[in-house]
Amino acid sequence: MPPPVLERRRALFVLGLAALGVAAGQAGYATLRFARAPVSYGPSLRRRLGPLEDFPLGTTTYVEGAQVFVRRDPGGPRALSAVCTHLGCTVRRDGAGFLCPCHGSRYDGRGRVVSGPAPRNLAHHAVAVDARGHLVVDLGVELAGDPDDETKGT
Ligand code: FES
Repeated sequence: MPPPVLERRRALFVLGLAALGVAAGQAGYATLRFARAPVSYGPSLRRRLGPLEDFPLGTTTYVEGAQVFVRRDPGGPRALSAVCTHLGCTVRRDGAGFLCPCHGSRYDGRGRVVSGPAPRNLAHHAVAVDARGHLVVDLGVELAGDPDDETKGT
Protein backbone atom coordinates (compact mmCIF):
# COMPACT_ATOMS: atom_id res chain seq x y z
CA MET A 1 0.00 0.00 0.00
CA PRO A 2 1.50 3.39 -1.03
CA PRO A 3 2.08 5.99 1.62
CA PRO A 4 -0.72 8.62 2.01
CA VAL A 5 1.43 11.46 0.51
CA LEU A 6 1.72 9.59 -2.81
CA GLU A 7 -2.00 8.92 -2.79
CA ARG A 8 -2.73 12.61 -2.39
CA ARG A 9 -0.25 13.57 -5.16
CA ARG A 10 -1.79 11.07 -7.49
CA ALA A 11 -5.28 12.34 -6.70
CA LEU A 12 -4.18 15.96 -7.28
CA PHE A 13 -2.52 14.95 -10.55
CA VAL A 14 -5.72 13.26 -11.77
CA LEU A 15 -7.77 16.24 -10.62
CA GLY A 16 -5.41 18.62 -12.48
CA LEU A 17 -5.66 16.53 -15.63
CA ALA A 18 -9.45 16.57 -15.36
CA ALA A 19 -9.48 20.38 -14.94
CA LEU A 20 -7.16 20.72 -17.93
CA GLY A 21 -9.47 18.47 -19.97
CA VAL A 22 -12.52 20.56 -19.03
CA ALA A 23 -10.71 23.79 -19.92
CA ALA A 24 -9.56 22.38 -23.27
CA GLY A 25 -13.10 21.18 -24.00
CA GLN A 26 -14.55 24.59 -23.24
CA ALA A 27 -11.93 26.32 -25.40
CA GLY A 28 -12.65 23.91 -28.27
CA TYR A 29 -16.39 24.45 -27.95
CA ALA A 30 -15.96 28.23 -27.95
CA THR A 31 -13.70 28.02 -31.01
CA LEU A 32 -16.24 25.90 -32.89
CA ARG A 33 -19.05 28.27 -31.98
CA PHE A 34 -16.97 31.20 -33.17
CA ALA A 35 -16.12 29.46 -36.44
CA ARG A 36 -19.77 28.63 -37.09
CA ALA A 37 -21.17 31.98 -35.99
CA PRO A 38 -24.60 32.69 -37.43
CA VAL A 39 -24.09 35.26 -40.16
CA SER A 40 -26.94 37.00 -41.90
CA TYR A 41 -26.17 38.60 -45.24
CA GLY A 42 -29.63 40.14 -45.54
CA PRO A 43 -32.00 39.86 -48.43
CA SER A 44 -30.66 40.18 -51.95
CA LEU A 45 -31.15 43.56 -53.56
CA ARG A 46 -31.16 42.09 -57.07
CA ARG A 47 -34.51 42.32 -58.83
CA ARG A 48 -35.49 40.65 -62.06
CA LEU A 49 -37.39 43.28 -64.04
CA GLY A 50 -38.62 41.15 -66.92
CA PRO A 51 -37.64 40.21 -70.45
CA LEU A 52 -35.48 42.76 -72.22
CA GLU A 53 -38.00 42.99 -75.07
CA ASP A 54 -40.54 44.39 -72.60
CA PHE A 55 -38.42 47.55 -72.58
CA PRO A 56 -38.36 48.79 -76.18
CA LEU A 57 -35.58 51.05 -77.42
CA GLY A 58 -36.24 54.72 -76.77
CA THR A 59 -38.66 54.14 -73.88
CA THR A 60 -38.56 54.84 -70.18
CA THR A 61 -40.60 52.38 -68.12
CA TYR A 62 -41.38 52.49 -64.42
CA VAL A 63 -41.01 49.15 -62.60
CA GLU A 64 -43.00 49.39 -59.41
CA GLY A 65 -41.52 46.42 -57.52
CA ALA A 66 -38.00 47.79 -57.84
CA GLN A 67 -38.82 51.51 -57.76
CA VAL A 68 -36.71 52.15 -60.84
CA PHE A 69 -37.19 53.65 -64.25
CA VAL A 70 -35.67 51.53 -66.99
CA ARG A 71 -34.49 53.52 -69.95
CA ARG A 72 -33.52 51.74 -73.14
CA ASP A 73 -31.34 53.56 -75.59
CA PRO A 74 -28.61 52.51 -78.03
CA GLY A 75 -26.09 52.75 -75.19
CA GLY A 76 -27.87 49.89 -73.39
CA PRO A 77 -30.44 49.61 -70.64
CA ARG A 78 -30.18 52.00 -67.71
CA ALA A 79 -31.84 51.74 -64.30
CA LEU A 80 -32.61 55.07 -62.69
CA SER A 81 -33.83 55.06 -59.11
CA ALA A 82 -37.31 56.50 -58.56
CA VAL A 83 -36.45 57.32 -54.95
CA CYS A 84 -36.16 61.05 -54.39
CA THR A 85 -32.85 62.02 -52.82
CA HIS A 86 -34.54 64.50 -50.50
CA LEU A 87 -36.64 62.34 -48.18
CA GLY A 88 -37.27 59.23 -50.23
CA CYS A 89 -40.65 59.77 -51.90
CA THR A 90 -41.21 58.08 -55.23
CA VAL A 91 -40.78 60.46 -58.13
CA ARG A 92 -43.01 60.29 -61.20
CA ARG A 93 -42.64 61.18 -64.85
CA ASP A 94 -43.20 64.84 -65.61
CA GLY A 95 -42.75 65.65 -69.26
CA ALA A 96 -39.22 64.68 -70.22
CA GLY A 97 -38.09 64.61 -66.57
CA PHE A 98 -39.24 63.59 -63.13
CA LEU A 99 -41.14 65.35 -60.36
CA CYS A 100 -41.26 64.48 -56.70
CA PRO A 101 -44.84 64.94 -55.44
CA CYS A 102 -43.79 65.44 -51.82
CA HIS A 103 -41.82 68.69 -51.88
CA GLY A 104 -41.58 69.47 -55.55
CA SER A 105 -38.03 68.52 -56.49
CA ARG A 106 -37.55 68.28 -60.23
CA TYR A 107 -35.08 66.13 -62.13
CA ASP A 108 -34.29 66.07 -65.82
CA GLY A 109 -34.64 62.94 -67.95
CA ARG A 110 -31.25 61.63 -66.80
CA GLY A 111 -32.07 62.14 -63.14
CA ARG A 112 -30.07 65.32 -62.61
CA VAL A 113 -31.54 67.79 -60.13
CA VAL A 114 -33.16 70.74 -61.85
CA SER A 115 -34.67 72.27 -58.72
CA GLY A 116 -34.57 71.33 -55.03
CA PRO A 117 -34.86 70.64 -52.26
CA ALA A 118 -33.33 67.36 -53.49
CA PRO A 119 -29.62 67.49 -52.63
CA ARG A 120 -28.39 64.96 -55.20
CA ASN A 121 -29.23 63.47 -58.57
CA LEU A 122 -31.28 60.29 -58.74
CA ALA A 123 -29.14 57.19 -58.36
CA HIS A 124 -28.20 54.95 -61.26
CA HIS A 125 -28.13 51.26 -60.43
CA ALA A 126 -26.18 48.46 -62.03
CA VAL A 127 -28.29 46.61 -64.55
CA ALA A 128 -27.55 43.50 -66.62
CA VAL A 129 -29.24 40.92 -68.79
CA ASP A 130 -29.22 37.43 -67.31
CA ALA A 131 -28.88 34.10 -69.14
CA ARG A 132 -32.64 33.97 -69.72
CA GLY A 133 -32.67 37.39 -71.37
CA HIS A 134 -34.23 39.11 -68.38
CA LEU A 135 -33.18 42.50 -67.21
CA VAL A 136 -31.80 42.36 -63.65
CA VAL A 137 -31.12 45.41 -61.53
CA ASP A 138 -28.95 45.39 -58.44
CA LEU A 139 -30.38 47.97 -56.07
CA GLY A 140 -27.37 47.45 -53.81
CA VAL A 141 -24.98 48.75 -56.45
CA GLU A 142 -25.14 52.45 -57.13
CA LEU A 143 -23.09 53.62 -60.10
CA ALA A 144 -20.88 56.63 -59.58
CA GLY A 145 -22.37 59.42 -61.63
CA ASP A 146 -24.37 59.26 -64.81
CA PRO A 147 -23.39 56.35 -67.08
CA ASP A 148 -24.29 58.49 -70.09
CA ASP A 149 -22.13 61.42 -69.07
CA GLU A 150 -19.41 61.75 -71.71
CA THR A 151 -17.45 64.15 -69.53
CA LYS A 152 -17.13 61.55 -66.77
CA GLY A 153 -13.56 60.65 -66.02
CA THR A 154 -12.09 63.60 -67.89
S1 FES B 1 -39.02 63.86 -50.78
FE1 FES B 1 -38.80 64.54 -52.79
S2 FES B 1 -38.68 66.67 -52.61
FE2 FES B 1 -38.91 65.99 -50.59
